[in-house]
Amino acid sequence: MRNFLTTADWTRDELEGLLDAALRFKRGEDTSKPLAGRSIALVFFNPSLRTRASMQVGVYELGGNAVILEPGGTSWTLEHRDGIVMDGDKTEHVAEFVRVLARYCSGIGVRTFAALKDWTEERRDPVLAAFAKYSDVPVINLESAMQHPCQSLADMLTVREKLGEGRKRVLMTWAWHPKPLPMAVPNSFALAAAQMGHDLTIAHPPGYELDDALLGEINNRAFDAGATVRVTHDVEEAFDGAQVVYAKSWGSKMFYGAPEDDIEERAPYRKDWIVDAAKMARTNNAVFMHCLPVRRNCIVTDEVIDSPASVVVDEAENRLHAQKAILTNLLSRA
Ligand code: CP
Repeated sequence: MRNFLTTADWTRDELEGLLDAALRFKRGEDTSKPLAGRSIALVFFNPSLRTRASMQVGVYELGGNAVILEPGGTSWTLEHRDGIVMDGDKTEHVAEFVRVLARYCSGIGVRTFAALKDWTEERRDPVLAAFAKYSDVPVINLESAMQHPCQSLADMLTVREKLGEGRKRVLMTWAWHPKPLPMAVPNSFALAAAQMGHDLTIAHPPGYELDDALLGEINNRAFDAGATVRVTHDVEEAFDGAQVVYAKSWGSKMFYGAPEDDIEERAPYRKDWIVDAAKMARTNNAVFMHCLPVRRNCIVTDEVIDSPASVVVDEAENRLHAQKAILTNLLSRA
């Protein structure tokens, strides 16, 4: 049995295989129903449009049935810590929740964002780890505190589809947002881009560094793939020659638990850290990507997101095809 928790657990060849499978689904060449007669649980602690809709449709198109649960809403509030005395507001433990679901369902997807309260704790991805610990069916990460691998697989599919196979010059740039956001998307995008052998530039203001250990992993994976990783604080020069511009905002590790301090820290970056036409003009006819949802005229101007360079809707569509490839791979083993 195998999980899909982070692309780091999958080799480049395996990821290429998932992309090939996703393209077969997208082109209508694969209409198989590997989930016929089976159910997949989709557990959402947090809101979603793309992930929820594309997983539900994907499970249906593969012949299966999606069981959607929202802890604290349509199912009981959940505790994930081991050894805890449950005399607070949590009704059920992940230990029972997951093992019961696994008696009904062939796989479990879970979305559990960072609470942005305790960096040391959340960087360990504790809720996702608890699901994986107790499940004896495959677990799919639908965005956790630190990783969003379904998104990054769809992103890699989009890069390949728009620009062809092989090494590309990819810029991942921080952008100003009115409040701090989790780091799962930038973590996973940078990791997957490195694994796939793209030359990656990461641009962010000082103080918005990615996790040190993850950055080490990104550098190692890039080295293995014969690619390069560069970090810059220069938001103009970063765009020079890029073939892909991937915009995302994230919060500073320094201000976990203190959002007002992060908001004050980022205020000076509002004017310059936005993807606009002038910056896109410095690129090598780059495509513009964002995982969505996006705040227009904060992260990216209307002019850019509404331009032919913008591939954000195709990128969102690719979530469906990528996840069908993941489900098929995991569930044909289990
Ligand atoms: N990109 C993404 O995961 O979108 P949702 O949050 O709407 O699922």
